[in-house]
Amino acid sequence: MNIDEIKKKIRGGIGKEIFFYRNTGSTNTLALELSDTSAEGSAIIADCQESGKGRLGRTWWSPPESNIYMSIILKPRLDASHMTLITIMSAVACTHAIRQTTGLNITIKWPNDLIVSDKKMGGILTELKLRKGITRAVVGIGINVNIDADQFPGDIRETATSVKIEKGTTVEREDIITAILNEVDRWYTLLQKNGKNLLLEEWKRLTSTLGKKIMVVIGNRTLYGIAESIDGEGRLVLRLASGEAEKILSGDLTVLR
Ligand code: BTN
Repeated sequence: MNIDEIKKKIRGGIGKEIFFYRNTGSTNTLALELSDTSAEGSAIIADCQESGKGRLGRTWWSPPESNIYMSIILKPRLDASHMTLITIMSAVACTHAIRQTTGLNITIKWPNDLIVSDKKMGGILTELKLRKGITRAVVGIGINVNIDADQFPGDIRETATSVKIEKGTTVEREDIITAILNEVDRWYTLLQKNGKNLLLEEWKRLTSTLGKKIMVVIGNRTLYGIAESIDGEGRLVLRLASGEAEKILSGDLTVLR
């Protein structure tokens, strides 16, 4: 991984400082530890993770030297109830960045799975540290880049994909990372400058979830309905068969056919 090449092309505060590790447990865990002593926008990048974390307590498959594992430290001036917007923001930024650098038609599955050809190419895990009114947010981004289909472990082989599989050629991870950091800078700046509505409109434009029949598992509840919209705080508005609307902050969503 050529970190100097990335640094040369950074346009704003996000990614100005980069910490690179050949191997670590989880870049998110590391970023949370470093969040008090490091500047906003610092990025932690690893070539490999021993215990990569996914959403909902899952593990994130993190083999060496092929994929992107990156966590960005943010210090948002947002109310804690608006933290879902950080997740929405990062999904919009990553979608733009991957589209620009690969030409692939990435869409977002609520809240922030990066999807192409109905398969998952990447995911984002946002973790917060709230203490004495100070908020630290860590945006952890995992993207499958130069992986062949037969390299995926059995449990995700049917549902996961990579840039290489979809494009048919390898792509430099540095190019995608640079684009992500610059796009996060752009959309995070907009969000902090009262651009919440513009950001939500952009998320709606890039998602493939709205209007679809879906199933959402929230803990031990399973809900079925139509994914109608997202509200001003980034929650999914699910229209149930009863006609009632349910607002969902977090859950495991499956699009039904
Ligand atoms: C998901 O489950 O969809 C989210 C996956 C997030 C994975 C990334 S890889 C970099 C960062 N460090 C982690 O331990 N997880 C995130």
